[in-house]
Amino acid sequence: MVQFDEYWSIWKESGVDVAPVKSKQKKPSPRISAEQTPHLKSLSDVESWLGECQRCPLCTTRNKIVFGSGNPKARLMFVGEGPGADEDNQGLPFVGRAGQLLSKIIEAMGLTRDEVYIANIVKCRPPSNRLPEEEEIEKCLPFLRAQIAQVKPEVIVALGLTATRVLTQTDTPLANLRGRFQSVAWNPQIELMPTYHPAYLLRNPPAKKFVWEDMKLVKEKFKF
Ligand code: URA
Repeated sequence: MVQFDEYWSIWKESGVDVAPVKSKQKKPSPRISAEQTPHLKSLSDVESWLGECQRCPLCTTRNKIVFGSGNPKARLMFVGEGPGADEDNQGLPFVGRAGQLLSKIIEAMGLTRDEVYIANIVKCRPPSNRLPEEEEIEKCLPFLRAQIAQVKPEVIVALGLTATRVLTQTDTPLANLRGRFQSVAWNPQIELMPTYHPAYLLRNPPAKKFVWEDMKLVKEKFKF
């Protein structure tokens, strides 16, 4: 296994510095709510409930629904924003360039992708990789909530501003939230570590050091 410090030095040497991209996030809708799902007993039940979803306009442009992948009983869960082109083609989360970086982050923590659970705020690709809209998030959130209820992770890492905004139900800037454990808005027992999205790290490699600091805090919590 590559040790974290060794990994960090590889990271440091790997990238070019480019300006961060400004976010156009809107305030979260107060109407975001979960459907009652006591009848769901497993992740497969959640996936069946999602079905060939047509609840929002993303169904008209998607290729494959990207439900989520990994250990159904993971202690650690990662939540991203929404599928990109590679994920839309394969039906799996985080398999493109950002996904490869996420795999490296997970491995640098001493884990494998099979040991954690990975999901997204929206399960279908927004066209041209635009930000998911409020209606799309609202329609999809019950399924993420149901996934979280089944997996029962102790810690969730929110990757990027969209995931952080939805999981905390606040509009607080990511820079003010990362570096300290927060909690999931509807379940204060689940600790939440907001951090930068791997796609942002590809554009802004110097931010990797913050993600590494955040992942060290997560690692310390589990003592694995
Ligand atoms: N970006 C995300 O937020 N999720 C993915 O699955 C892939 C890229």
